[in-house]
Amino acid sequence: MAALSLGRGVSRLLGCLHRASAPWRAVSGRIRGAPDAAQPGSYLALSAQAAREPAAFWGPLARETLVWDTPYHTVWDCDFSSGKIGWFLGGQLNVSVNCLDQHVQKSPESVALIWERDEPGTEVRITYRELLETTCRLANTLKKHGVRRGDRVALYMSVSPLAVAAMLACARIGAVHTVVFAGFSAESLAGRINDAKCKVVITFNQGLRGGRVVELKKIVDEAVKHCPSVQHVLVAHRTENKVPMGDRDIPLEQEMAKEDPECTPESMGSEDTLFLLYTSGSTGMPKGLVHTQAGYLLYAALTHKLVFDYRPGDVFSCVADIGWITGHSYVVYGPLCNGATSILFESTPVYPNAGRYWEMVQRLKINQFYGAPTAVRLLLKYGDAWVKKYDRSSLRTLGSVGEPINQEAWEWLHKVVGDSRCTLVDTWWQTETGGICIAPRPSEEGAEILPGMAMRPFFGIIPILMDEKGNVMEGGDVSGSLCISQAWPGMARTIYGDHQRFVDAYFKAYPGYYFTGDGAYRTREGYYQITGRMDDVINISGHRLGTAEIEDAMANHPAVPETAVIGYPHDIKGEAAFAFIVLKDDRDDAEKVVEELRAAVAAKIAKYAVPDQILVVKRLPKTRSGKVMRRLLRKIVTGQTRDLGDTTTLEDPGVITEILTAYQKHGARRPAK
Ligand code: WTA
Repeated sequence: MAALSLGRGVSRLLGCLHRASAPWRAVSGRIRGAPDAAQPGSYLALSAQAAREPAAFWGPLARETLVWDTPYHTVWDCDFSSGKIGWFLGGQLNVSVNCLDQHVQKSPESVALIWERDEPGTEVRITYRELLETTCRLANTLKKHGVRRGDRVALYMSVSPLAVAAMLACARIGAVHTVVFAGFSAESLAGRINDAKCKVVITFNQGLRGGRVVELKKIVDEAVKHCPSVQHVLVAHRTENKVPMGDRDIPLEQEMAKEDPECTPESMGSEDTLFLLYTSGSTGMPKGLVHTQAGYLLYAALTHKLVFDYRPGDVFSCVADIGWITGHSYVVYGPLCNGATSILFESTPVYPNAGRYWEMVQRLKINQFYGAPTAVRLLLKYGDAWVKKYDRSSLRTLGSVGEPINQEAWEWLHKVVGDSRCTLVDTWWQTETGGICIAPRPSEEGAEILPGMAMRPFFGIIPILMDEKGNVMEGGDVSGSLCISQAWPGMARTIYGDHQRFVDAYFKAYPGYYFTGDGAYRTREGYYQITGRMDDVINISGHRLGTAEIEDAMANHPAVPETAVIGYPHDIKGEAAFAFIVLKDDRDDAEKVVEELRAAVAAKIAKYAVPDQILVVKRLPKTRSGKVMRRLLRKIVTGQTRDLGDTTTLEDPGVITEILTAYQKHGARRPAK
């Protein structure tokens, strides 16, 4: 009972914080005013409580926020040394009931999704009642075709209500979805389907993006040739065009029309798997991170509400693709659990012109806009007129995610798009964290926000900076490896089929801590700024890629015995890939080989993974033990050749001049983009 009464307290306090957060006053890029640390219910007081008493903080919130079939008996049971993470044990619930049925009971006709289709002005509104019906028909179709609780289903779909219904249909029957971004190649798709052993794939005949047709079904056909686990491909229709249908293909809409619009939800354990989502690490093939039911949903819903200041009736817009974690948590699960109206953005920021986002904001009266810095950097080059042309007075919160936001982009988003009156939240998190971990909100009214800074940990997140020796760094004005010292409900539970890899990747570098792979700086005031990856992961237009993956994609070329890929700064993409390749002695057709390598990366991974630059060198810089010193390559590409650091371990220091000469020659031909 003690926990319950404390629980009401926590919820009430969160309510206060939420209300107090309404009229942020922004003054020339900053939000002024000092938070009152001592005030009960203040951000600081709640943060302290979440850190000190996680069970008392999260337990009652879970009970009050989610609809349960059976209450949990244990709030959390976690141990970072073995990678054991469990929340709300013993509890049972269904995620689709939380995202749909509970709202249908109260207000069936409120709008769940606004599908902002590729062609502007052709949006489609879907109510909670309609979305529930579609989800149930799709769930029944899946069941009819042999999908059972625990089975994996791959989604290779463009952003659409049917894709959302497919995710929720899996959740309804206890199947596990794995959404694969519809820009990945057939080979990447096949790799994910095989790793997850998916029984069914759901796709569209074609997709539409930026006025162009994307051949989704064709790519799926190519992929499933190599996927013995796949029994059926369900094909929905986005365009009028006919595509060839084979034996295992099933026309989705036709089948759904025959099914019942009701489907009894499976009662799932809190720790049953909700979805897998593949993401890149510094080594090996992409990891299938496992997210479970209750903790993930609670964390997505709560961060959605508090970071963005979401209020009932708002139109919330996250323009990410559902193929990424941002789409999962802030297009689908968080907003729908909160009963919000969520925008599904099918298009691109520059189609049909650079005013697309802001015209959409005006037409749909959007209150929160959440996007990636790469798009902001692109749009600001088109000039302010494309923004100012449209009425943006509905906007209250602007959000940024996926990569560091540079000062110029932050200022532009804040001043030009937000007219210096919207709260701008730079949100740091990862596929692994399930939801936002560091962001300027929640916080007290008037609490300051500094440009380009993620600022403050969310409730229950305890960031720690580590020095190179693995010592915890205290105080301010320090930079180190960003770790988190205590479990939170939204974090991933394991890597599908390889728990040891999960432990090794996240809990080994700093025993007892979750290591994010990112570096961060902490100011004297205790604010955080993310400085970027510390491993061999690069971030191209907000998309994560392991340099090793790109190297692997090029490795099979018979003329190329060795490659080394690094990331280098790119003014729109944030980072771009630069590949150094060594050719076999007898090859004199370098240009042809380079083109073949580009094609290989596009075919094996995705178009966006193709290196912007490929440079032929005689040798790679290696240590005596044969390790490629990518650090030196990075210095050469970023022009820091005066400060190469320690080169004593190089097998032959002469290699530096050799590469530098080749690079300078190459630079003269092909200026760095
Ligand atoms: C980077 C995306 C700086 C970071 C939600 C992280 C950021 C990786 C930010 C995760 C930010 C994400 N500032 N860097 N606000 N947000 N990152 O898994 O390197 O696709 O580790 O999740 O993106 O990418 P992921």
